Parts: sequence; structure tokens; C-alpha cells
Amino acid sequence: MSGSTDTRLALDGGTPVRATMLDFSPPVIGEEEVESVVATLRSGWLTSGPRTAELEERFAARTGVPHAVATSSCTEALHLSLVAAGIGPGDEVVTSSFTWPATVNAILHTGATPVFADVDPDTLDLDPDAVQRAITPQTRALLPVHFAGGPCDMDALCRIAATHGLCVIEDAAHAVEADVRGRKVGAIGDFTCFSLYATKSLAGGEGGIVTTSSDESAERLRLLRAHGITRDPWKRARTRTLGHYDVVEPGFKANLADLQAAAALPKLDRLEAFHAHRAELVARYDDGLAPLAGIEPIGRPDYGRHAHHLYVVRIDPDLAGADRDAYAAALIAENVATGLHFLPVHTLTWYREHLSVPPLPVTERAGDQVLSLPLAAAHTDADIDDALAAVRKVHAACSP
Ligand SMILES: Cc1ncc(COP(=O)(O)O)c(C=O)c1O
Repeated sequence: MSGSTDTRLALDGGTPVRATMLDFSPPVIGEEEVESVVATLRSGWLTSGPRTAELEERFAARTGVPHAVATSSCTEALHLSLVAAGIGPGDEVVTSSFTWPATVNAILHTGATPVFADVDPDTLDLDPDAVQRAITPQTRALLPVHFAGGPCDMDALCRIAATHGLCVIEDAAHAVEADVRGRKVGAIGDFTCFSLYATKSLAGGEGGIVTTSSDESAERLRLLRAHGITRDPWKRARTRTLGHYDVVEPGFKANLADLQAAAALPKLDRLEAFHAHRAELVARYDDGLAPLAGIEPIGRPDYGRHAHHLYVVRIDPDLAGADRDAYAAALIAENVATGLHFLPVHTLTWYREHLSVPPLPVTERAGDQVLSLPLAAAHTDADIDDALAAVRKVHAACSP
């Protein structure tokens, strides 16, 4: 679709690089997904039932853990994991501010206090030394975020957790395909939380999954996601009894519907193929951006496998001739969508007004400079070439 020779930016009245918008993260919707959802509709059972159970079993098997518990979102996966870990008022949870507000809200909803440690300047994952410094006698858990799909150094973080007797709850919303020194993300911490949100590699529309090796934690999570009620509706529907139920603690309403599990299930078989395709697109971006001063992809950890969920660059305004916001505005005018991952949570209004957070210089600087370029398994080489053509065009117009 690229090929316009008009060097004037579309923002200034030039011809856009693309005639139509290049979406940031379009989902893959194949015949498999359509058939799977239609079969579930035809089955007459829409809410949590056999498809959710199948997703749980197969996700646990691929991760190599005894339990996967499906939830209504990754946010709820995090929240229920914190509750199941016994985190509550008076407790502190050390996490990253370089994340989606979901991570921090999950902590706040337990009544605990989020304590932010700064991130590594290269990968933007939690810096284990900063985590160590953030620990106080009130710290009960670590909540690392595998940013963009780049795994945190879980060996270092688990060592810190073991020394201080802390629970490890991982935010793996971006990291289904990641590993750390050969160990799959999902089989490392006490609880690992994944997302089935529309843009994620295992998209179901909305949804989440917690993996855990603990029988006791899995049982608690299953109770917590369904009001603390001791019988699940699918099991009850198959018994020919009235089904007296009991509530053993006031839980939440956070179950995954079969319709969503049905949309996600066919992708389980194709996760590796999609990951390989995204890895090729990432290499294409790396090559194409290398000559452009001031536009650099964030670093990728050398101790593990990257899930390639996001392609995030840093824009240094001194070298690139304009700042991140100017690049984003120019790219959207060229019909290339971009993403902002992330604005540091502690700089947003509510958190600024209610939490007292010491300066986090690496996080704050990254928040000013990061820009995510389109990356999804549904993209073609030609799509990435269009994105690159647009970035080159904007760079040529802006660079000093
Ligand atoms: C790092 C991170 N954590 C948690 C979430 C929350 O996921 P969900 O939308 O499934 O609740 C997101 C959502 O994009 C995310 O990016």
C-alpha cells in the first residue's frame, strides 16, 4: 500500500503513506474461531462450563502446571490471586509503575498499598536491586510485570522473595509465550496471571487465567471467582437435584464465560506459529529502524524468551527531531495507528493525589519517550513495511 513519493507529512497536507488505517493490534479471527463460538452458541450453554474447563485443562498442560483457573479478566486474576495469597489492609506489594492501571488497582482493591520500584533502563522490567531497596517489614508480595512480553529476571526476584518470605504474583498479561532460562512463565511464581483481552495472543474478547502449582490456592481461586459458593453451575446443571448451595466466604463474580473460552481455544494450537510470525515482524522492524537516529527499540532480556506482544521504541527528541507525542500525531495522520505503553501509573491523577511515591526517574523518562508500533499475528510483512515507511517519512521531516 505504500509507494507515495509525496515527502510532505500528511499532517501538513501531504498524501498519507497508507490509504487506509493500519490497525495497531487486529485480532486473528479465522474459521476456527467462528466455528468454535457458533458451536458453543448452538450447545445452549453460554456461561462457564465445558469450554472453560477445556481451556483451563489445556492451558495448564501447555504451561506444565497442575492448575489453570479462568477468570473474567487478567485484572480479576490479579485481584483474586492477591486475595488468595492473604494480602489485605496494612500490607505492601512491591510492583512496577510502568504498567496498565489494572496491576495497581488490583492491589488497591485488596486494601493493600502498592509500593513502586524503578525499572531497568534497558528492558523496562522491574530492576531487582530497586525491588530489594523497596522492601519494608510490611512487604508481603512482589508483583512483577513482564512488560511487552520481555520476561522479568524471575530468578533474581524469586531469590529476593525467598529471603523475605514474600509471595510472588506475576502479571503476565503480555507474556503467554515467554520463558526465563528455559522455565515457562506461568510455572515460576506462586500465581501467574494472563489476559484473554482482545489484543492479546490468546484473545477471547475479555478474560483471564491464573496458573498455580498449589492445590489449595487453585481451590480458593475457584471459590473466590464465584461468590464463594461451593458448587459451580455447570456441575449443578448435570445433577438431577435441587442443588442446595452454601457460601463459605463472600467472593466475587469473576468467572469466564464459555463463549469467551470458545473464542480463545482455537488459538491455543496456533500460539507458537503466531509467535514465530511476530518474531519475524520484530526482526523486520529492527532492521528497518536501525538507520534512524533517536528511534530505538527497548532492550530484550538475554536470559529468556520474549513473547513479542508489543514492539516498543523509545524516541529521543534530541536525536529524532521531535518528541513521542509529535511522532504519534504524525504517524496517525499517515494512517499508522500507534500505542502508548505506558504512562507511569503513579503520575495519573488519582494515584498522584492518594499515594506518596518517591521519584522513579527511569520509569518517568520512559513514560515520556515510549511509543508502540503496530504488531500482531494478523499483520503482514507489507503492513510492517508501511509502518516503517511512515516512521522514515516522519523522521526525515523532523530530524535535525
Ligand atoms: C500489563 C497489563 N496488566 C494487566 C492488564 C489487564 O488485563 P485485562 O484487560 O485482561 O484485565 C493489562 C491489559 O492490557 C496489561 O497490559
